[in-house]
Amino acid sequence: MEQKYDFLRLAEERQSDRKYHDKQVEKEKLLRCLEAARLAPSACNAQPWTFIVVNDKELKDAVARETSGGVLPLNHFTRQAPLLVVVVLEKPNITCRFGEIVKDKKFTIMDLGISASHFCLQAASEGLGSCMIGWFNENKVKELLNIPKDKRPMLIITLGYPAGKKRKKIRKKPDDVIRYNSYKQQQ
Ligand SMILES: Cc1cc2nc3c(=O)[nH]c(=O)nc-3n(C[C@H](O)[C@H](O)[C@H](O)COP(=O)(O)O)c2cc1C
Repeated sequence: MEQKYDFLRLAEERQSDRKYHDKQVEKEKLLRCLEAARLAPSACNAQPWTFIVVNDKELKDAVARETSGGVLPLNHFTRQAPLLVVVVLEKPNITCRFGEIVKDKKFTIMDLGISASHFCLQAASEGLGSCMIGWFNENKVKELLNIPKDKRPMLIITLGYPAGKKRKKIRKKPDDVIRYNSYKQQQ
């Protein structure tokens, strides 16, 4: 049967890009990535997110510096990206908060991940590269971007034209992660 959209190709195409060309991202492309993120599903449609686009060069470099440092040689590449998008977690609506407590599940964190994923997949469809960054100095980023004390920047997404090669995906095998009808593996 014919597929309506070739989403799988896009999923294969997207990768975490850690090298970027010194070329600005066109505003229309950025807006489409943000739109894809905005259209993401969320528990109780709470949409618990704000996206801060950091495209001022000095500020962007300052935020990028907060993604590395310390003991681990992590995230130095973020300076190369022409822009960063910081994803801030917002308080969800009351229904979602109730659901999180009753079901003991962090719906809002799942929501942010889905939304960030939409952003990155749209970026791939635009020929752009991206990388989600979870390791950064949250307090410093809050200070730099005037994020209120009671809110948390959870993810930073780098965006730009990728300068690295396409890599082969390293993933667990289908048989290791997919079961049918029972958690127990069929013999
Ligand atoms: C929530 C989250 C946080 C991540 N944080 C970082 C990070 O701080 N630095 C980094 O280089 N990559 C980070 N990554 C990228 C992962 O390392 C990457 O997605 C994974 O290795 C799979 O590779 P691929 O994205 O190229 O398919 C993060 C990814 C996710 C989903």
